[in-house]
Amino acid sequence: MEKLVITGGTRLKGEVVISGAKNAAVAILPATLLLNGIYTISNLPNISDVKITCDILQDFGAKITWNSRNEIVIDTREIDGREAPIDKTSKFRASYYMIGAMLGRCGQIEVGLPGGCNLGARPIDQHIKGFEALGAKVDIGQGKISAKAKKLTGTSIYMDVVSVGATINVMIASVLAEGTTTIDNAAKEPHIVDVANFLNTMGADIRGAGTDVIKINGVKELKHEGCYSIVPDQIEAGTFMAAAIATKGDILIKNCIPEHLDCITAKIVEIGGHVEDLGDSIRVWNNKRPNKANIKTLPYPGFPTDMQPQMGVVLSIADGTSIINESIWESRFQYTNELNNMGAHITAQGKTAIVEGVKELLGAPVYASDLRAGAALLIAGIIAKGTTELYNINHIDRGYEQIEEKFRKLGANILRVNE
Ligand code: EPZ
Repeated sequence: MEKLVITGGTRLKGEVVISGAKNAAVAILPATLLLNGIYTISNLPNISDVKITCDILQDFGAKITWNSRNEIVIDTREIDGREAPIDKTSKFRASYYMIGAMLGRCGQIEVGLPGGCNLGARPIDQHIKGFEALGAKVDIGQGKISAKAKKLTGTSIYMDVVSVGATINVMIASVLAEGTTTIDNAAKEPHIVDVANFLNTMGADIRGAGTDVIKINGVKELKHEGCYSIVPDQIEAGTFMAAAIATKGDILIKNCIPEHLDCITAKIVEIGGHVEDLGDSIRVWNNKRPNKANIKTLPYPGFPTDMQPQMGVVLSIADGTSIINESIWESRFQYTNELNNMGAHITAQGKTAIVEGVKELLGAPVYASDLRAGAALLIAGIIAKGTTELYNINHIDRGYEQIEEKFRKLGANILRVNE
């Protein structure tokens, strides 16, 4: 196992280039199963969640070659799998997209029940509701989920909960259904729009992605294999925005879409930071202790839950007491125990955390509980006095490409060493 050893006290300065969006990539790759073809997918983040997705697709018979660190060619002309290995899919939440893609492709699939970050219960009832509304029979048992459909028929589906995964999964499954499918109360994240854009380049007829109502007019067949570039990662960009504020630094964040960051920008300005929109990049800087602020995580365009831990670190050294309300996940405050071991004063109870700002954090051994908690604790190590050892960094590698290299280029003193 590896750990990151971080020597604190650096003000991050310089440029960072944002990678493609993890949560778009893990859906777009399975979507290539809908049409036999050869696809070149670029701006692909080179992270373990993408590698697992590629592994599972290869288990189904896809041929994948890496043209470069961030571009693959995927050939889905000889897909024969009906079942993905449980040991892979059960560890990986986004494996559920194989269901929507294979239902759309051939009307049959069996995968291990999806796993993923430990954020509390992670139901998939809305996915199942959508598949069944389209005419599929879905069974769950022995840690597996199987779905079968002679044919899929367009219908109207009202999501009881705004769900990124269920919105994307139903969108993928309904592309080749007979008739029109309407998804009401749909999620609106940038990665939803990116998946819809990709499906439309394949010849799908999807409208309204990015709004509450998405209409998918089923087509008889998709026509276009081809090339696609993944949208920049909103959350990776936000992570570096938080790092710039926490370290009183000045970072030019390149290859991002500033409009996708509006909710994060608003909060950063509220706590005293500065953000300059430069079109396809943003400059974020700060030269004083952050002000306190309250945060409530909400579906897009609200403040993203995937930015909650990173902002928790910023507020842990803010001037005053802040309140964080995590409305999406039931257990996303594990990182606060680690921060308190570094001298923070955070009281987390259920979905609320009270953050009393302290003057400084002190380096300590800390443990990442999930992807974003890991990124947050890395930022904490950079601002802390002394040395921090960050363990369980496999979580971070799931969603951040070359994380320590990117921070080192900004001046951070970080080493990846074997435990
Ligand atoms: C996606 O997870 C992201 N993962 C998560 O990012 C992100 O936190 C989440 O969306 C919210 O933005 C991927 O895209 C791979 P949801 P997903 O369905 O799709 C409830 C990261 O750090 N719900 O939008 O699993 C659910 O319990 C990861 O990159 C149901 O009740 O999230 C939660 O309270 C962590 N029934 C809420 O909806 C369902 O069938 C939002 O979940 C589905 C979800």
